[in-house]
This record gives sequence, C-alpha cells and structure tokens, in this order.
Amino acid sequence: MLPDARDHQPKAGLTPLPIVAEPAIERRLRSLGRMIGNTPMLAIEFRFRGRARVVHAKAEQFNMTGSIKDRMALHILRRAYAEGCIAPGDAIAEATSGNTGISLAAVGRALGHPVTIFMPDWMSRERVALIHSYGAQVVPVSRAQGGFLGSIHMAEEMAATDSHVFLPRQFANAANVEAHELTTGPEIWWQLRQNGLELDAFLAGVGTGGTVMGAGRALRRLKPSARIHPLEPAESPTLTRGHKVGQHRIQGVSDEFVPVIVQLDELDAVVAVSDGDAILMAQMLAATLGLAVGISSGANFLGALRVQDELGPDAVVATVFADSNKKYLSTDLMREELVREGYLSPEVRLTGFTTYHRLCGMCAVNTEPR
Ligand SMILES: Cc1ncc(COP(=O)(O)O)c(C=O)c1O
Repeated sequence: MLPDARDHQPKAGLTPLPIVAEPAIERRLRSLGRMIGNTPMLAIEFRFRGRARVVHAKAEQFNMTGSIKDRMALHILRRAYAEGCIAPGDAIAEATSGNTGISLAAVGRALGHPVTIFMPDWMSRERVALIHSYGAQVVPVSRAQGGFLGSIHMAEEMAATDSHVFLPRQFANAANVEAHELTTGPEIWWQLRQNGLELDAFLAGVGTGGTVMGAGRALRRLKPSARIHPLEPAESPTLTRGHKVGQHRIQGVSDEFVPVIVQLDELDAVVAVSDGDAILMAQMLAATLGLAVGISSGANFLGALRVQDELGPDAVVATVFADSNKKYLSTDLMREELVREGYLSPEVRLTGFTTYHRLCGMCAVNTEPR
C-alpha cells in the first residue's frame, strides 16, 4: 500500500530542518528557503521507436539562481549555522565547476558572507561572470595548477590559515546529500502521487552525487524496490573506472574523481550517455518544447529513457533538469552538433509536456523548521 501524504512528515523518517539560534539569520534562511526547492515537475511526452512514452523531470531552473545547487548551498549553510561551524561575517571558500559557485555566492552574500570560489579556468565564461556579479571573488585554476583537484587544494589552504573561513566541502559534506533527502526526493514522490503515479526509477548525473544519493535514499525509504541510477558521460566513465578518464562536455557532472558521498553499492547500475547525444537532446528540448535546459538535462533525459527501456515503456522514471541553457551560450550547446552512430536522441520525437503542480507547502513536504 502507498503511504498517505499525512503520514509523510516525521514518521516517514524525515528529519525536521535544524533551527538556527540567531533570529536574524533564521529569518534570512527561511526567506531564501521560499525561493529554493519545491520546483514544478514536468511530464515530457515523446515517441521513441514508434511508441508513445513519458519521462518525468524536475524543473530545477526555477530555483533562486536557476539551478539545483541552490538546494545544497542553502542546506549546507543552515547546518553549518546550527552546528556552530560558521558565524556571521565569516568567509566562505569552495572549489566548484560552476553552479555551486553561483549558488554559494548568492546564498552566501544574502546571509552577509564574503565568498571566494576556486574554479577550473576552462568553465564557461557565463559562470565566471555570474559569480562575480554576486559579489564573490573567483580564483581561476589552470590545468597546470591541478585543475579541479588543484581548486580543492587551494580552498583547503585558504581555510588552513584562517579560522574565519568556512569550507562547505560539497563533495564530502553529508548536508549536501541531506538537502536532497529532505526536499528533492520527497517532492518527486509526492508530485507523482498527486497525479496518480508511483515511481519505478530515479536517475541523476553525478557531480558531487548529492542529488542521486539524497533523493535516492528518500525514494528508497518510500519504495524499497525503486531503482536509483547514477549517470556519467560515456567519454569520461569516472564512476565506472574509479578514477578520472577522458574528457567530456557535460558541465557539472564527472569532475575528475569519485566523491566520498557517492556510495555506489547503494545504487543500481551506472548509466552512460555521450556528451554529443546530451547536447542534441538539450537542443531538441529547447527548440521543440520551449524547455531551454542545460547539457546535463539532455543527458539525464536520455539516461532516464535508457532505464525506462529496460523496465518497460510504461515505467515511471524521474530525473532532474538541473539548470537552464543560459550559462552555456558560449559552449557547444549553441553550435551545430554532429549525429553519431549509437545516439538515442535522433530516435526521440518530442510531442509535448504537462506540468505538475508544486507541492502545497502546508501539507506534503514541510521544508521549514518547526
Ligand atoms: C548542471 C549540473 N548538472 C548536474 C549536477 C550534479 O549534481 P550533484 O552535484 O548533486 O551530483 C550539477 C552539479 O553541479 C550541475 O551543475
């Protein structure tokens, strides 16, 4: 039997959010929380190999800065305040390939913190400009300086010499996973339930792994047989190999190593999607349906389609559209992409979409502290 929405709150195993002692900070966190999460769910209708299908995706571009990473930035800072790891005025320093930097810059500045972001210097110009616009400092890190791993090292060094520097450590912080366990996962479940559906599988591309691990844990608690699949670029199978291999164009996922918060033994098989196929799919979602999404969203759609193909054409499969296409104006997403042998996107005919309501803040998922 399916759990009832009224049973969902603490009984379903969700921890109420920690309350921060300082009232001024708590007020700001709550205000930010009303602009982050509880996004619409899209039911994307399409034909694939002659048959009508539907794949579900959370429209994460509706978050405050336009990406799923706002959920994690807000929750990590809330936890840090609740546990006394950050104080008003402390600096925030993080290594990130983009969206996290934008989210931490916005949420950090809204809470009055100076923010420094260490970022590989090959990330899109839009990301750097956006982080600057939020009043944060960007430190570009070249491949010669160690690229992504070099960025992490530099952020750690900054904190080592100053006790007033807080490191969110998104790749290792349990609050990253918890953000999705408390919000993304339950939202997916209840938005489907409100539309008479029960989830069979969830898939998400792995950057830090916060989304797939956290949403996955919440969904497995609600339905232990739910399949939870991580996705990686076919050109850079870091999860499968256990270390960085190759290069790829799906910004935000597969950042050179397997993060410690990723527990592959809790997950189903890794799904691989080619970056070119992801680009073609993201372009098609924008050009055909007006859903202007980023490259990882195209990958997630195709990954969800692969999982659905295994489970059967009527399986209820959900994923996330992590951001919009606006941060990719200078990338291959805006250029003509060649179709290659084995790509799935040429066989997809998008036909329409239905948007499911956001959840009622008073009933299904309570994302505010009590
Ligand atoms: C565009 C995009 N997609 C997917 C992800 C992966 O999310 P997670 O870090 O929760 O694994 C990210 C993370 O930064 C991202 O920026």
